[in-house]
Amino acid sequence: MSKTVVITGASQGIGAGLVKTFMERRYNVVATSRRISETAGFDRSGGLQLIDGDVADPETAERVSRVAIEQFGSIDALVNNAGIFLTKPFLEFTLDDFRQLTSTNVEGFIHFTKHAVRQMLRQKSGGSIVSVTTSLTDHPIAGVNASVAMITKGGIDAATRNLAMEFATENIRVNCVAPGIVDTPMHAKDSKDFLKSLSPMGTISPVQAIVDAVVFLTEAAHVTGEVLHVDNGAHLGKW
Ligand SMILES: NC(=O)c1ccc[n+]([C@@H]2O[C@H](COP(=O)([O-])OP(=O)(O)OC[C@H]3O[C@@H](n4cnc5c(N)ncnc54)[C@H](OP(=O)(O)O)[C@@H]3O)[C@@H](O)[C@H]2O)c1
Repeated sequence: MSKTVVITGASQGIGAGLVKTFMERRYNVVATSRRISETAGFDRSGGLQLIDGDVADPETAERVSRVAIEQFGSIDALVNNAGIFLTKPFLEFTLDDFRQLTSTNVEGFIHFTKHAVRQMLRQKSGGSIVSVTTSLTDHPIAGVNASVAMITKGGIDAATRNLAMEFATENIRVNCVAPGIVDTPMHAKDSKDFLKSLSPMGTISPVQAIVDAVVFLTEAAHVTGEVLHVDNGAHLGKW
């Protein structure tokens, strides 16, 4: 029987790449974002369900899980990919910025992870949770002022290691992929030369590089509690 993966933030960028690759690998896919039903370009035949909803709303995760179980019979993997990013000097960050970042990045992670873990425990056959964070969480770059956004992404790295420990005996593995700069609509307005300067390898990752890392961790039966950097060396330090 095909495995089922839930993917958040799936309408564009990394999330849309994940949908395509998991489908090619014969997974059933339940893909969600606020406006995913308006997205063209997905092959809607077969094992794909598209669900509109805000990840910050607990009802979205509930609806997505219900569809996964009713349509496909299981949740074997979750990719917490939906996320927003904001840079500003720390003194200019507002409480509103903080609330927007935490509701999408952290509350979304909690709602979806709870539903997935609950279902995986019922199934008694383990499972995988992979979240997309960023290499900036513990490797800041001068001039990229992301302190408040990093409360959310760093929190997910830390929660991932703790969840990996909490559910290790149930064979539910919990990992992160930490990208550097990826070629997605998130950076549509930024200069390519500036973006290339943000890693020692001097390049921007294609979406597929992140997708491949997520797929690897989803299927790596002996890896849990790992933060896999796919960042062209940015986590190495000064360059
Ligand atoms: N691009 C990079 O360089 C980079 C680097 C490091 C980490 N990341 C992380 O990688 C992940 C994906 O990034 P990306 O570059 O592919 O982003 P993107 O192109 O901006 O796409 C973001 C996706 O998340 C969805 N989304 C945003 N807010 C949402 C909400 N409240 N509820 C549900 N869905 C929501 C969007 O769809 P809707 O508008 O339809 O909701 C969209 O599908 C994010 O977690 C990001 O922080 C990206």
